[in-house]
Amino acid sequence: MNSPKHVAIIMDGNGRWGITNKKSRNLGHKEGLKTVERIIKSTIKNNIKYLTLYAFSTENWKRPYFEIKFLLNLLESFLNEKIDELNENGIKLKIIGDIKKFPNKIQFRLKSAQRKTDKNKKLLLILALNYGSKSEIINAIKSIKTKKIIINESTVDRFLYTKGIPNPDILIRTGNTNRLSNFLLWQLSYSEIFFVKKMWPDFNERDYKNIIEKFKKIKRNFGKI
Ligand code: IPE
Ligand code: IPE
Ligand code: MG
Repeated sequence: MNSPKHVAIIMDGNGRWGITNKKSRNLGHKEGLKTVERIIKSTIKNNIKYLTLYAFSTENWKRPYFEIKFLLNLLESFLNEKIDELNENGIKLKIIGDIKKFPNKIQFRLKSAQRKTDKNKKLLLILALNYGSKSEIINAIKSIKTKKIIINESTVDRFLYTKGIPNPDILIRTGNTNRLSNFLLWQLSYSEIFFVKKMWPDFNERDYKNIIEKFKKIKRNFGKI
């Protein structure tokens, strides 16, 4: 039986959950953050070493300003309030995506959180922020070209944000939507994909455990028979 090393999650459905339950998309985002905390704990319990969470895409800038501002404030308060706890639990934080588009104080907090947790070994928590897979791949190819290195799978791997990180074994997308939305297109080429009908705030430890157990029973071929 295969145990997953790396789980990636597209945390979708906060807005719809918020409208249905609190008449506010933003309150859905706030509720979604509680699921994030529960799923991080559960990831450690299940002995999974890498967790990648899609928190903000390069396309999400198209949302109304007040929603973007709310998401940035949530991120900032998460960084202020939770980093010590993550650190005490042996969690190392890594950001993928172009954070230069974020306000300076958030960039500063993200960098200091990564520095602070750098030595931790229990779990690598990878947060995708202003992340877009197409721009990640284009940047990798540009760097390879300027450095005049040959282009092959392993050189492309080395120039992606995810350098050195094993590809996700499992991709979960909540929110009853079956698409990838520009997330890890290269890295997910052989991942097992689970689309979940529940909205992200309703996704719980049992749903997560069920997916892990299903994964363990899958015969992964990688082209072989
Ligand atoms: C995903 O939930 C969270 C982010 C994109 C930050 P959505 O905000 O996309 O929720 P829905 O899909 O509109 O319900
Ligand atoms: C994907 O969700 C991005 C994140 C979860 C951060 P979206 O809700 O933005 O995706 P689309 O636009 O519906 O495909
Ligand atoms: Mg959505």
